[in-house]
Amino acid sequence: MEETAGWPEPVVRVQSLSESGAATIPDRYVKPVDDRPSPSDCCSSSDAASSTDGGTVIPVVDLSSADAARAVSEACREWGFFQAVNHGVPLELLRRARAAWRGFFRLPLELKQRHENSPATYEGYGSRLGVEPGAVLDWGDYYFLHLRPPSALSPDDKWPLVPPDLREATEEYGREVAALCERLLAAMSCGLGVGEKRLQEEFGGAEGAGVCVRVNYYPRCPQPELTLGLSSHSDPGGMTVLLADERVRGLQVRARGGGGGWMTVDPVADAFIVNVGDQIQVLTNATYRSVEHRVTANAGAERLSIAAFYNPRSDLPLAPMPELVSPPGRPPLYRPMTFDEYRLYIRRKGPRGKSQVESLKADDGDR
Ligand code: OGA
Ligand code: NI
Repeated sequence: MEETAGWPEPVVRVQSLSESGAATIPDRYVKPVDDRPSPSDCCSSSDAASSTDGGTVIPVVDLSSADAARAVSEACREWGFFQAVNHGVPLELLRRARAAWRGFFRLPLELKQRHENSPATYEGYGSRLGVEPGAVLDWGDYYFLHLRPPSALSPDDKWPLVPPDLREATEEYGREVAALCERLLAAMSCGLGVGEKRLQEEFGGAEGAGVCVRVNYYPRCPQPELTLGLSSHSDPGGMTVLLADERVRGLQVRARGGGGGWMTVDPVADAFIVNVGDQIQVLTNATYRSVEHRVTANAGAERLSIAAFYNPRSDLPLAPMPELVSPPGRPPLYRPMTFDEYRLYIRRKGPRGKSQVESLKADDGDR
């Protein structure tokens, strides 16, 4: 019998499919027609710019400016996505973290396989989200680790030993990104007209908040027009700080105002791409909203991104903050749920647009 480590079927590494040199992708990765990228979006590497809606771009916020807090809250209110420049995280650390993880993904498959993950915690080397047998899969492998709170830190056996610098660089990266998220959360709080510490309190304080990383590795794909590197989803947690690949594009954000369009993000050098997650949407009673995003695959180049998730303490029931609720005009839009319960959904079903936060809508049928 094949080893599945708790997955419903044997796990196939996308990297091994890519390196097999096959000219076509297995049926399991072929998306329904409506979910496929538009041809102009999936076949560019660093050179050809493209965006389905004619070039709209997400805001760039200079975190060193006097006006930064207002700009952050405005970007969260209007877009749910922005690029942060002059963020204060040492650029040398960004380079170290990227280099370490590139080194890891370049190791022979057998070495990476030692850290194979399972759907129980997702920590380790993975190639799918969701456990439904027969699901259509995404063209990407990843590595997932918990960094905070200290009680949740991934155990030693979940950490790669090679490259030797990987663990220290990742832990240091996690500390820096956590400090950045604390600042961003204060700015978001101010913009709500509540005290600057309120969102952080709802997260269980700086000590209670969770930090985890998902390093995404998208190998070259022979048929990028048929699949996605990562299907449309909103991030389930509090907020996400993404270090995108400096050379290869791929992240697309759902265009504002519906219409189903996707805009390709053009990463600013050394910037972080920050986005609002579902828990901030719930806490702010949808003043700030999470936004659907996805990743296209690429025929010409592999792509690496490091997503750090800053999450509320996982055992607190989260609901819209009382200051932002005043029935009947402004009823609470969501019913309370802990983040532990909430994240089981994406772990069971995989990425599914914004269906989960929608399913948390308080029943207003009898109002
Ligand atoms: C994620 C994500 C985007 C990317 O990991 O949740 O949206 O560009 N990643 O890899
Ligand atoms: Ni995401």
